[in-house]
Amino acid sequence: MTYGFDTVAIHAGQEPEARTGAVVPPIYQTSTYAQDEVGAPRAGYEYSRSANPTRDALQECLAAIEGGRVGLAFASGLAAEDTLLRTVCRPGDHVIIPDDAYGGTFRLFAKVAERWGLAWTAARISDVDAVRAAVQPGRTRMIWAETPTNPLLGIADIAGLAALARDVAARLVVDNTFASPYLQQPLALGADVVVHSTTKYLGGHSDVVGGALVTDDPELGAELAFHQNAMGAVNGPFDAWLTLRGIKTLGVRMERHCDNAERIVEFLDHHPAVRQVLYPGHRDHPGHETAAKQMRRFGGMVSFRAAGGAAEAVRICNRARLFVLAESLGGVESLIEHPGRMTHASAAGSPLEVPGDLVRLSVGIETVDDLLADLDQALG
Ligand SMILES: Cc1ncc(COP(=O)(O)O)c(C=O)c1O
Repeated sequence: MTYGFDTVAIHAGQEPEARTGAVVPPIYQTSTYAQDEVGAPRAGYEYSRSANPTRDALQECLAAIEGGRVGLAFASGLAAEDTLLRTVCRPGDHVIIPDDAYGGTFRLFAKVAERWGLAWTAARISDVDAVRAAVQPGRTRMIWAETPTNPLLGIADIAGLAALARDVAARLVVDNTFASPYLQQPLALGADVVVHSTTKYLGGHSDVVGGALVTDDPELGAELAFHQNAMGAVNGPFDAWLTLRGIKTLGVRMERHCDNAERIVEFLDHHPAVRQVLYPGHRDHPGHETAAKQMRRFGGMVSFRAAGGAAEAVRICNRARLFVLAESLGGVESLIEHPGRMTHASAAGSPLEVPGDLVRLSVGIETVDDLLADLDQALG
């Protein structure tokens, strides 16, 4: 029998505990495990960097909700990304990254991986032909997509990029942080690996930092698991427990995030202080058709450009009250930020620099009328 998404999210990897019947997986806050004899650990666990039962429960759940065979949980989204790129790539290889992506992802490629010997090209990830043109035959090892992108909410055609990646023997990686597996399942569309900052919608309560990789390829999964242990950037037991707890309500939270975002988009569309609203649910969004094909709904992230320019965008952020002025996204509470000066400051002067008049909203699940009233006063 195959279960629906919410059933899987609540139960996968979380059988009642054998010894006590605890319905919720315990937090195994231990670094090490007793061995009955040398080389004979009692239940297969030796040391918590290598494996921990709470992390195992999360990893099984992550794999199940993304429809993959192997899930791995890391200390942060960037730790997951670093482990992935150093597993798949070798010095001298080339990767294609989006020309619109999370600033920290860009920084990892441009300031860390490049020094390690990895070449990169930033390409328009919403245009499969532009990505094809950026391929260096025999050298491009990985195509990295984010969809929707952070912060411009561009849409990549996952199936189209997967076909291209297969043609050129590269791996397609999809950062699914903005959509979450409830709205979009990249592995089913042909991606090789899904990346998450579980800090965001999966955790869902702005109380934990974590990352994940999921793949359906057992060989690649084993290599990634080897590197997870060898590089050591693992998710701790309490963080794994918080993330598991968050995932249980992912489906209901995402529905409400989408409901609220749609109402806010409608409001911003008609506001004179707003020059342009960026949301893939918009019929005139260039990626709308692709998004409608590959996403269940269009998500809780909304960006807009202030009619009054960059200084006014900053003032709007400063005036918000209920929308908390803060980095990050995907929690139950609404957040507002200025990407140019905050989350994407590290992309300044690069091909990924974002417009100064841009404001990004992470629309939470509060009463939507209260959110609308706050935006109304913040827009002035
Ligand atoms: C789309 C996306 N990917 C990856 C990351 C990095 O995740 P973390 O902050 O958990 O390292 C972020 C963080 O904001 C993000 O927005």
